[in-house]
Amino acid sequence: MIEKLHYGTMQQPLTEFIRSIRLVRDEVLMLDQTLLPMGEETLVIRDYRQCIEAIKMLRIRGAPAIGIAAGAAAWLAAMEFSGRDNYIELMNRALDEIEASRPTAVNLFKATTAIRRLITAGNGNRILDYTNKLIEYETDACFNMGINGAKEIEGEPLGILTHCNTGSLATVGIGTALGVIRTIARDRRVHVFVDETRPLLQGARLTTWELMQSGIPCTLITDSMAASVMRSGVIDCVITGADRIADNGDSANKIGTYGLSILAKNFDIPFYIVAPVSTIDRHTPTGKDIRIEQRTASEVAGFRELRTAPEGCGVYNPAFDVTPAENITAIITETEVWHPGS
Ligand code: MRU
Repeated sequence: MIEKLHYGTMQQPLTEFIRSIRLVRDEVLMLDQTLLPMGEETLVIRDYRQCIEAIKMLRIRGAPAIGIAAGAAAWLAAMEFSGRDNYIELMNRALDEIEASRPTAVNLFKATTAIRRLITAGNGNRILDYTNKLIEYETDACFNMGINGAKEIEGEPLGILTHCNTGSLATVGIGTALGVIRTIARDRRVHVFVDETRPLLQGARLTTWELMQSGIPCTLITDSMAASVMRSGVIDCVITGADRIADNGDSANKIGTYGLSILAKNFDIPFYIVAPVSTIDRHTPTGKDIRIEQRTASEVAGFRELRTAPEGCGVYNPAFDVTPAENITAIITETEVWHPGS
């Protein structure tokens, strides 16, 4: 199968993409990503607590989309608490709860910090406006990362390896890493190898789903196949996203990304990170300072209702790892291409 690889271009206009989250009238509409690809269900959320639950459970996920969901949750809280004597206190408490949902993606904290400032200044009525502007920014950023990435990454046909999901579902646009892949695939033939991305299978469930809708040829592999697939010679570059990029370029992304960067180095394959400027955290000097989210044991000891490990088995489940800057060929943002390792 790998010997007879099919390369192809995208069969969908770049402007056509799935909307992961929308703010409509006084409701938040969110595609429940835990059900994909078997079920497509849109959640109608009116309570900020439900929005927080959705972030925690990965119904909405991916750094840029988490930032928007934080804004949406704060907007719902502001509608609920509007007119209360202790409005500022209630809002600050709600923002604390939002911040406690997922600790690694910096986009969430950038949104809550900006909203806290609005509230302190008596401008809580501007949260919707702020969140809508953030949506606009992230949508445009995706298109521009696509343009920058397509200029930076040369060659045709291109065999690309990607990890987790960085597409429309993880953003509010064409995606980060997947946005670059889509932009390249407008006029160049590609084949995308998709890591299944243990333990929650964002690659298998979400990335293949998005790529197939775009008509981009793809092959699903398990995470542990990456080394042998690279050695077979079909991978020209690795392209992934990031959840938080430290000031020195060290990048936190879905667990497994660091390993891929080591493999890429071993096989002399370029390794790209694609992320908007909103994912860069200039207040965090290096990757060592990034807080890594630890998730529940049951995600590794089984999948959904099915238990695969013996009861009581010890489990380690960090959601992310950090790829050191020296392993990264380039970080592609919407404004520039950064070579942190050189
Ligand atoms: O745990 P998840 O599914 O939220 O992790 C997502 C990732 O690691 C993505 O690669 C990252 O957020 C970039 S998304 C554009």
